[in-house]
Amino acid sequence: MTESLTVRDNRTGVEYDIPITDGTIRAADLGKIKANEDNPGLAVYDPGFVNTASCRSSVTYIDGDKGVLEYRGYPIEQLAEKSNFLEVSYLLVHGDLPTKEEYDAWVHEITYHTFVHENIKEFMQGFRYDAHPMGMLMASVGAMSTFYPDAANISDPDNRRLQIIRLIAKMPTLGAWAFRHAQGKPYVYPDNDLSYTGNFLSMLFKMSESKYAPDERIAKALDTLFILHADHEQNASANAVRSVGSTQVDPYSSVAAGVGALFGPLHGGANEAVLRMLRRIGKVENIPAFIEGVKAGNERLMGFGHRVYKNYDPRAKLIKQQAYNVFEVTGTNPLLDIAQELEKIALEDEYFVSRKLYPNVDFYSGLIYEALEFPPEMFTVLFAIGRTPGWLSQWLELVQDKEQKIARPKQIYTGERGLTFVPRDVRWA
Ligand SMILES: CC(C)(COP(=O)(O)OP(=O)(O)OC[C@H]1O[C@@H](n2cnc3c(N)ncnc32)[C@H](O)[C@@H]1OP(=O)(O)O)[C@@H](O)C(=O)NCCC(=O)NCCS
Repeated sequence: MTESLTVRDNRTGVEYDIPITDGTIRAADLGKIKANEDNPGLAVYDPGFVNTASCRSSVTYIDGDKGVLEYRGYPIEQLAEKSNFLEVSYLLVHGDLPTKEEYDAWVHEITYHTFVHENIKEFMQGFRYDAHPMGMLMASVGAMSTFYPDAANISDPDNRRLQIIRLIAKMPTLGAWAFRHAQGKPYVYPDNDLSYTGNFLSMLFKMSESKYAPDERIAKALDTLFILHADHEQNASANAVRSVGSTQVDPYSSVAAGVGALFGPLHGGANEAVLRMLRRIGKVENIPAFIEGVKAGNERLMGFGHRVYKNYDPRAKLIKQQAYNVFEVTGTNPLLDIAQELEKIALEDEYFVSRKLYPNVDFYSGLIYEALEFPPEMFTVLFAIGRTPGWLSQWLELVQDKEQKIARPKQIYTGERGLTFVPRDVRWA
């Protein structure tokens, strides 16, 4: 039986049969519903796209009620525990896990594309001493399109693959240099003997030693954080990448748009807010009064609640474990005690339980970043590095999808019509 929706237009009395496919109706089918021949047809009004599917996608599956997150069908828990970020990147971009040969070639290519043109270094050095690292990252990713004009040829699969490798490889270099810039320290070149996250740590923290030796526990924690941030289906930054990519511009310009979207406090900035909240609470004894304030509606418990997850955010559990591994290296942080106690109280309290408010991905990630001595402005840069393979997988799917068109929403026009223009000399006379 074909599923359909019968709609009766009470303006005309006409009934329409609209097919339902995959739990959706086609907006274009609604466009056939017209009050009269001159009418533009019915449209949907959906600010923020809260109930509009913009694409068909096989990259990431989320079931928010059950707390499920899968990349290409693989549960995030298994990937975080048994895989690594570069293998997960391969999976996201290609749709399948690599063979040994494919994996080795992928890791080799990414490792050997970590260097950037010296001119990129020079223009990054031109930023003000206090430039926000996300602004530097967004500008330098966008600028890469000028260094690789071949990237404009988005219809060639080999060319697309090369740009994807370049982007995944060079994001840590740009991110680390934005970090060093703020500190007035010399930029550190990539060390291709190290792992992806080991090299990133070297570019962040190496000083005069001839070779930087990353702590494996910290490299692993960062690798896991990157895996957990690698994709989250049609979120604001993926949508920005797709929207800009729909113009058929090169992937550097599209990813720069994703970095811009992630920069916003409603998207990438929440873990910074968690940290500010924990610092303000200051000690465990102050928690009850703080919780009362939250329940009275004076403020929110940052790092709790999610638009999609109405259950424990699966990423939060995994990050919590990594937080403990990092504290083994860095020493425990008094904010961790406050975070644990807050979590315990909130998970038992009727206010939070009835509203299905559980810890989200940002609750513990900020603590890890703080323990690694990143300033809060860097938190979103780390998110952007992890999210790059996701953005590129979404972009790749978009450019190969024959159904996609340039993204161009409708509007409900609320302004004046048909006014007569009066020239300045008459208006002001
Ligand atoms: C993420 C978030 C924006 C999702 O919001 P949402 O799905 O639109 O949920 P709503 O704002 O409709 O909230 C539903 C109810 O839960 C309450 N609520 C939601 N998040 C809350 C929080 N973190 N602390 C206290 N109460 C919260 C709301 O006050 C509302 O209560 P009400 O029904 O009595 O009015 C929201 O949970 C939030 O602001 N969390 C804190 C910020 C954060 O951690 N963001 C990172 C997301 S990854």
